[in-house]
Amino acid sequence: MKIYRSALLRFADDGSPLYDSDGLLAVGPDAKGQQRVLAAGSWQAMQAQWAQQPGAELVHLPGRMLAPGFVDMHIHYPQTDVIGAPADGLLPWLENYTFPHESRFHDRAYADAVAEFFLDELLRNGVTTALTFATSHPASVDAIMAASQARGMRMMAGKVLQDRHSPDGVRDDTEQGLIDTEALIQRWHGVDRLGYAITPRFAPTSSEAQLRGAGALAAKYRDVWVHSHASENLDEVRWVRELYPQARSYLDVYAGFGLMRERAVYAHCIWLDDADRALLRETGTAAAISPTSNLFLSSGYFDYLQADAAGFRYGLASDVGGGMSFSPFRTMQAAYVVGREGHAKQGLSLKPGALWWQHTAGAARALGLEGVVGNLQPGCEADFVVLNPSCTPLMARKTAQAASLDELLFAMIVLGDDRLIEQTVIAR
Ligand code: GUN
Ligand code: ZN
Repeated sequence: MKIYRSALLRFADDGSPLYDSDGLLAVGPDAKGQQRVLAAGSWQAMQAQWAQQPGAELVHLPGRMLAPGFVDMHIHYPQTDVIGAPADGLLPWLENYTFPHESRFHDRAYADAVAEFFLDELLRNGVTTALTFATSHPASVDAIMAASQARGMRMMAGKVLQDRHSPDGVRDDTEQGLIDTEALIQRWHGVDRLGYAITPRFAPTSSEAQLRGAGALAAKYRDVWVHSHASENLDEVRWVRELYPQARSYLDVYAGFGLMRERAVYAHCIWLDDADRALLRETGTAAAISPTSNLFLSSGYFDYLQADAAGFRYGLASDVGGGMSFSPFRTMQAAYVVGREGHAKQGLSLKPGALWWQHTAGAARALGLEGVVGNLQPGCEADFVVLNPSCTPLMARKTAQAASLDELLFAMIVLGDDRLIEQTVIAR
């Protein structure tokens, strides 16, 4: 058992931040050897019970802060090298940069190399769990799963289904794509800390037969994730209306094939109406908000106020390579700015604790992993980051002047990047 003494951030069940400036985190293995949080709270109150136990190894980290590992609800590991490719919006970006690049992932050795770099980059940025797209090639799933397994990470991934409106090299076959998906579910889902996600790219690139098959798999494997994109860009929304004229809306296409349920995650969800929001809530489906991507591709602004009024689940995501950064700090910063821009008249100002929650415990809850990752409450898997609030001269100066938890967290969100992450600890 390890006993950490440091400042400690975690979250209450209602999402509010809990902070101990002098905290205690006890970590030890469960019966299966999985490292979990045994106790968390104030050093003063808990040290007599925990720090004195025989065999307890004390790790004192003065001037540091422990916080839950970040959870990225939507990312594309094969787009690691697509970051920063400029285009006039989503559809040209896919056609000119993304599809040609993804065609390289039929090559397992190439996929392995990118997967390793990607996981290094996640960890350097304090991200310990992600729901990631692979490509349409089954080898791309094997690559990211094997690399995540070797590191003991909790990771969800899936083979992309895209049997139409896609160029040679990334387009799959309707039936074979579904057969491959089921084989990959059986190979990887629930193995160690890995999870499978049924991953139709988005409605325009899957035939009705492929979406129907995906829905059948989603019904057969209830604890497998469903992962796609929805209502990101107006040209895309128009295209979906042409392709699926009988559907009430873009999200209704997915609903019609049984692809909205708990553990279904749709990236973006910008161009929604009230009926779509009610559908998200009623089905337990989650939205992955990707503000740096939405800014980069000029997609639009996620509507926080309408989301909260409807009461559906959401969390933050980088959406690399549409997104501009792996860093959760850059994503939280963008979410803050977008919240204000998108709600200038209503004066919305997202609180730093809420932004942080959306990228940790809130994201975990949206993924159906509440109490598993994204928090440091007793019972959680002990993935965490060690933050160094003195990592730059300005950060040291600013955090030293913080007079409240809000001010401290805001300083880190606004000034933070990978330099703030001194260490990322995986609960293996
Ligand atoms: N919609 C369909 N595919 C993609 C993708 O790769 N990235 C983004 N941002 N949107 C998509
Ligand atoms: Zn995406």
